[in-house]
Amino acid sequence: MCGIIGYVGQRPATPLLLDGLKRLEYRGYDSSGIALMQDDGINVMKKKGRISALEGMLNGHIADSKATVGIGHTRWATHGVPNDLNAHPHSSMGGDLVLIHNGIIENFSELKEYLSNTGYTFTSDTDTEVLANLILDFYEGDLLKAVVRALHRVAGTYGIVVMHKDHPRSMVVARKGSPLVVGVGEDEYFVASDLAAMVEHTRDVIFLNDNEVGIIEDSGFRHFNLDESPIQRQITHIDFTLEQIEKGGYRHFMLKEIMEQPQTLEDTMRGRLLPDGGIKLGGLNQHLDELANADRILLLACGTSYHAGLVGEYVIEELARIPVEVEYASEFRYRNPLIPPNTVAFAISQSGETIDTLEALREAKSRGALGLGIVNSVGSTIARESVGGVYLHAGPEIGVASTKAFTSQVTVLMMIALLLRQQRMGLDETSQDITDALRRIPDQVSTILKDHSQIVDIAKMFSRASNFLYLGRGTQYPVALEGALKLKEISYIHAEGYPAAEMKHGPIALIDRMMPVVVLAAQSGAESAKIISNTQEVRARDGVVIAVVTEDDHQMDNLANHIIRIPKTLNLLVPLLAVLPMQLLSYYVADLLGLDMDKPRNLAKAVTVE
Ligand code: M6R
Repeated sequence: MCGIIGYVGQRPATPLLLDGLKRLEYRGYDSSGIALMQDDGINVMKKKGRISALEGMLNGHIADSKATVGIGHTRWATHGVPNDLNAHPHSSMGGDLVLIHNGIIENFSELKEYLSNTGYTFTSDTDTEVLANLILDFYEGDLLKAVVRALHRVAGTYGIVVMHKDHPRSMVVARKGSPLVVGVGEDEYFVASDLAAMVEHTRDVIFLNDNEVGIIEDSGFRHFNLDESPIQRQITHIDFTLEQIEKGGYRHFMLKEIMEQPQTLEDTMRGRLLPDGGIKLGGLNQHLDELANADRILLLACGTSYHAGLVGEYVIEELARIPVEVEYASEFRYRNPLIPPNTVAFAISQSGETIDTLEALREAKSRGALGLGIVNSVGSTIARESVGGVYLHAGPEIGVASTKAFTSQVTVLMMIALLLRQQRMGLDETSQDITDALRRIPDQVSTILKDHSQIVDIAKMFSRASNFLYLGRGTQYPVALEGALKLKEISYIHAEGYPAAEMKHGPIALIDRMMPVVVLAAQSGAESAKIISNTQEVRARDGVVIAVVTEDDHQMDNLANHIIRIPKTLNLLVPLLAVLPMQLLSYYVADLLGLDMDKPRNLAKAVTVE
């Protein structure tokens, strides 16, 4: 997501910080800034847009500064739109203390209220500026102590670097849930959120763990637990290439993003699932009445986001009992749609820039619908044009094939369904059961990802197939569509997703021993028995079945040719787990075919043309 770089040494800091920021560019960002320790205090320069915009701004100002201590940040917005004011570094009131921050301060509203009542004023919409002022509030001459005391008041995640003008040769760092690593050079120190930012200068590093804090000074790095007990950690020598580091050691962004999902799902849910089973979605607070009284919900999207919408249709209708229609945004905008009163339209988009989805949102709004967004990219056009909505907080998705955005979109739609249910029917046991099950999902995702050698083997067996069929029922039907889309877009193998029962109305004619059929059968109850019958129909025609079932389900044991087992969850949540083998299968097939799945032919990450 965001990127951090800091430097304490003998060399001019500005070029080192700018180079570090450029090394972090691959992570995606919307603004950047640096703060330099000058003789007359801390000088902060920040700018919306690319690093080149920041560089342009520095020209003739502090670009030739001799400062040898400084920090830099690339921001990927979480609180507040991308603009100059919301960019990091953030200063405390008066400008004596400056902070860069990755992560989310969940209780920032309460802290802001407390600080406002104490007389602090704020210039940005960010949670980070609140933290800067909170640390200042505790500051009595010892910066490390002030940071520790402030962090005891904070709920959420952070990787932070803090400077104070009274300590011109030092900076304080702390980490919880957001990576931070200190680089040890010769008479110089770096700190960064990502090895890529410093690897040119040093490969000797000290990794910070969660709930650790430290102070970098000319004399060395001192390192503590949050209870201030000292830590002695060995220096680690790293020997990765820069390219490997940017991909987190993975060969491709797509695999990295698949493997990130336990964390991205935690991030999507963070602070939104309440202990009593309630749901808190701040971006919908202003519209709770309209949502509860909606007569119809429209979900407008393209591609993978459309498939997430199809899962949303099942879960919202099931839990909130409001009619839902999912529409391809491109079709909706051109077909003179009827929008009855009390219609709520959600535009679903990872990038927030897909032109068809944007135009569909505009169309729905112009016809009287309440236009909301479910978007990953903060401050994107769809996010700005929605009157409210929910961010995914999944971090930048770089691989063209959407993976982690899908699971976060489904999670957000599930939380919206629960919120609507609770608004209409109150909090009940069903809500509690589903939120409990949702909390278990990141661990279950980890279990699937940890050992997926069987999926690699299956990919090897079928990478030369010319066609694939994907079948699913209920919430598994959208997963079948998504599995087929993933395979075709990165491996160029023709694949179709179908509702399992529809197969016998046509596609069954295609089935023979050359046709791998992926059957998504991980739900329990009535749908399970039906999908077994559909599988028998495939096997009776010599089709080769790859079945995805739950770990304790043995009904397919003598039927399917290959069985992929996933952990058990509630039927409504199965898409969050069943889609992972689909993502991995398509990744490994494309890899075996020697294709570049991060940049498949003819495709772009954000489709901004009609
Ligand atoms: O950014 P969006 O979610 O609006 O993008 C929609 C589609 O273009 C996108 O999901 C596309 O289908 C992906 N390449 C699928 O992996």
